[in-house]
Amino acid sequence: MQILSQIRLRFVPVLESLFTSKGLAATKEQIDAALAMIRPAQNPQFGDYQANFAMPLAKPLGLKPIEIAQRVVAEVELSGLCSDISIAGPGFINLKLADEFLCQQANQAFHDSIPIALDRAGEVQVDRLGISAPASIENVVVDFSSPNVAKPMHVGHIRSTVIGDSLAKVCRYLGHQVTTDNHLGDWGTQFGMIIYGFRHFGDPSAYQKTPVPELSRIYRYVRRLMDLLEKLRDSPKWEQALSTAKQRLDTCQAELDSVETAGDKAELKVARKNIADAQQQIKELEEMLSKAQLQLRLAAQDETLSRDLVQHADLHEAVLAETSKLHAGDPENVTLWKEILPHCHDEIDRVYRRLHVSFDHCFGESHYHDRLAPLVSLLQKQGLITVSDGARCIFLENFDAPMIVQKRDGAFLYATTDLATIQYRMEHWQPNRVLYVVDHRQSEHFQKLFAVAQRMGYQDVHLVHVSFGTVMGNDGKPFKTREGDTVGLEGLIDDAVTKALEVVAKLDDAKVGGPEFSAEQRREIAEVVGVGALKYGDLSQNRTSDYRFDFDQMVALDGNTATYLQYSFARANGIFARAERTPDSIRTADTSIQLTNEAERTLLLTLIRFQDTLEEVLVDYRPNLLCNYLFELTQEFFRFYNRPDCRVVGAEPALLASRLAICDLMARTIKTGLALLGIQVVAKM
Ligand code: ARG
Repeated sequence: MQILSQIRLRFVPVLESLFTSKGLAATKEQIDAALAMIRPAQNPQFGDYQANFAMPLAKPLGLKPIEIAQRVVAEVELSGLCSDISIAGPGFINLKLADEFLCQQANQAFHDSIPIALDRAGEVQVDRLGISAPASIENVVVDFSSPNVAKPMHVGHIRSTVIGDSLAKVCRYLGHQVTTDNHLGDWGTQFGMIIYGFRHFGDPSAYQKTPVPELSRIYRYVRRLMDLLEKLRDSPKWEQALSTAKQRLDTCQAELDSVETAGDKAELKVARKNIADAQQQIKELEEMLSKAQLQLRLAAQDETLSRDLVQHADLHEAVLAETSKLHAGDPENVTLWKEILPHCHDEIDRVYRRLHVSFDHCFGESHYHDRLAPLVSLLQKQGLITVSDGARCIFLENFDAPMIVQKRDGAFLYATTDLATIQYRMEHWQPNRVLYVVDHRQSEHFQKLFAVAQRMGYQDVHLVHVSFGTVMGNDGKPFKTREGDTVGLEGLIDDAVTKALEVVAKLDDAKVGGPEFSAEQRREIAEVVGVGALKYGDLSQNRTSDYRFDFDQMVALDGNTATYLQYSFARANGIFARAERTPDSIRTADTSIQLTNEAERTLLLTLIRFQDTLEEVLVDYRPNLLCNYLFELTQEFFRFYNRPDCRVVGAEPALLASRLAICDLMARTIKTGLALLGIQVVAKM
């Protein structure tokens, strides 16, 4: 049920009449802007909802805010919805929902257990809880996770995977038509690396036995060789840059000396700043050089590595050549690619199974290969292409660099594939909206992509880059292992589960009657808690900012964490056993939720805001708003739970049923909300 839009709708006539009484015709934008200023009240002291439009309307209407507020209060028709409307301060309008309305909405949610599938296979199902159908059903494509395969998944992949999964689920739950697609990087240079590496550095017997670790070893080895070769090549340049920087420092020093004698303050400041800049540059270059030299020295001690560095000095070119051969259909490379690819899928599928993430499609970049040449011809026909330096480019207003769709050597690019992907999706799925859940470093790519799509004629589809920030380590720098490598995603899941096991064991050990779980049960619970903590730790952050990765904080039992929410679910469930009833015995037609005190009222008020929250999530694609809501709900629940006048067990029969129904609705809302974040619950903790 949509509460907010029901309230807003009631204000339309009075807003319109305010304008007409002044001889004005209100535009739709003006009415919508005013309605948007009706919001849940920040402070319960000011009622349940607050309308703050009287202030901004004062000028266009030529009335004082208080006059506007008075007229609104006198004229607005709120029967059946609100029991109280009042004015505060210069013209704030406070609204209180009618208790009967509140109860009726809560009962409607409580009695609605129609199952809704959150994935196409119907493996995750939750209760509908009174959610009403959207005004217009959208056809949404969510492009998310999309790792480049053939290398292990790392911490950088977690954000796209969990944010995309959650947004797709929220869209589905609200009644939209959703297609999820994992746009795998399965056609890029990394395959040139693997193909080359497989031939020159592969260990056939290791590959026979355990293909995935062997492929990943090959990938890492080639990567390492390429890095070292790059350092060998670049070191002289850096040394040159260092000596230039040192000369610059000398010049700056001399300048400072002369300015100091002259004594001009402003000039002094500039001179000092120049020195600091030069010093900083020297420091950075020295660090880079010493790191590179150390790595090269270590490599020199390794016989195989030093031999390969000499023998494969042109590795970079060789890798590009293998990639081009693959794209050109070279039979040997294509066969090898086809042999390797299923293993790459196995590797990522294992991670997805563990995270309970699935996709309707996993069309990788390779899926679009045959479309690329015809696409470029089409762009040419549409007059969008300019040849510059042999490359086919699309120049765009507001961008310095063009989008290159075909390089001088004939190779197509990431952007070309993305254009072909839009074409394919429009032909096959006809979406109204496509969400690209990809990190912020690709924002320019997507701006250009969307601009070109527009010019190709795809104007009716809303293309959105749902971008996100970086995962940082405790030191505030991008999260790396102690050795400086990217952090593997599987290892991270393992660590989260280990951490969760500590929490689960602690809770279990502290139980009044002694521990109740076996070691095996503890491990099963820890898996749910650990994976949940990892996902929630990410989803609860504002997606556009960077965030610091902190295991302890993620599994804390007393904060905005999945663990706390899962715990509250288990507690709400636990009440049934203590009351010697089952949820099913309560979910009968004659059970009705009643309101008997303020704590119940606040909890119900929060419960019935579920749909409004989910719609808010989709306004700017922010799952963290759902996290905040669930956290608030949990806090309200414990407030209710701990109040002597809200006793559930031991309450008289009619009240007992009502309060158990409240606990049941709370538990189902938490369970559903967590499911929408891709997180599971456990019955007991
Ligand atoms: N594979 C790409 C990467 O790892 C992300 C792909 C995102 N989706 C897209 N349609 N471009 O950077």
